[in-house]
Amino acid sequence: MEGKILDQETTAEQNPANIQIANTRSKRKYDIIIIGASGYTGRHVTMDMGRLSQTYNLTWAVAGRNIKKLQNILNELYKTLDGYEDKKIDIIYANLYDFETIMKMTQTTSVVINCTTPYYIFGEVVVKSCVLTSTHYVDVTGEPLYLWRKWHINMMNRLKRTIQ
Ligand SMILES: NC(=O)c1ccc[n+]([C@@H]2O[C@H](COP(=O)([O-])OP(=O)(O)OC[C@H]3O[C@@H](n4cnc5c(N)ncnc54)[C@H](OP(=O)(O)O)[C@@H]3O)[C@@H](O)[C@H]2O)c1
Repeated sequence: MEGKILDQETTAEQNPANIQIANTRSKRKYDIIIIGASGYTGRHVTMDMGRLSQTYNLTWAVAGRNIKKLQNILNELYKTLDGYEDKKIDIIYANLYDFETIMKMTQTTSVVINCTTPYYIFGEVVVKSCVLTSTHYVDVTGEPLYLWRKWHINMMNRLKRTIQ
């Protein structure tokens, strides 16, 4: 019986996903920040995060430019989910027009989930900040203009390398 438990623990430790979380958690205040949590997609991501963070014991926060809207989303989460009676989620001011606020946000977390829009104008602001602060980046975009631009730039870079 004891051997079996030890085997299970060893397997969990060797899982790359677990190792990643353990390594990064010690370095940053939050495991995950959702920027754009006040939007349609951000609200859904926030509700899911509320549930998943309890299962996986993650530290997380929401970010955006309108603190009141973000507070309303969190109030909805506190009302609908058990386990938030004495737990409050932090709100971080981060405006895509103000790069310093985006840098401050990315520095405090291991992962940023970007739910802002429009990506074709703002997308690269958050990506750049994540690259500069070595922060993992996740986005949810389905905007054709942004995806096309990304695809176009990649293709042009590949072509340039081939020509050189
Ligand atoms: N809607 C869908 O069904 C769906 C499905 C899959 C993927 N997506 C993708 O999800 C992304 C978001 O779409 P959405 O429909 O959720 O958009 P949305 O409801 O308009 O939400 C946009 C979010 O971006 C924030 N934002 C805009 N300008 C900002 C700024 N200067 N600084 C900080 N935050 C700013 C907004 O904050 P405020 O609240 O302060 O305005 C809001 O939280 C898009 O790329 C879309 O392609 C959407």
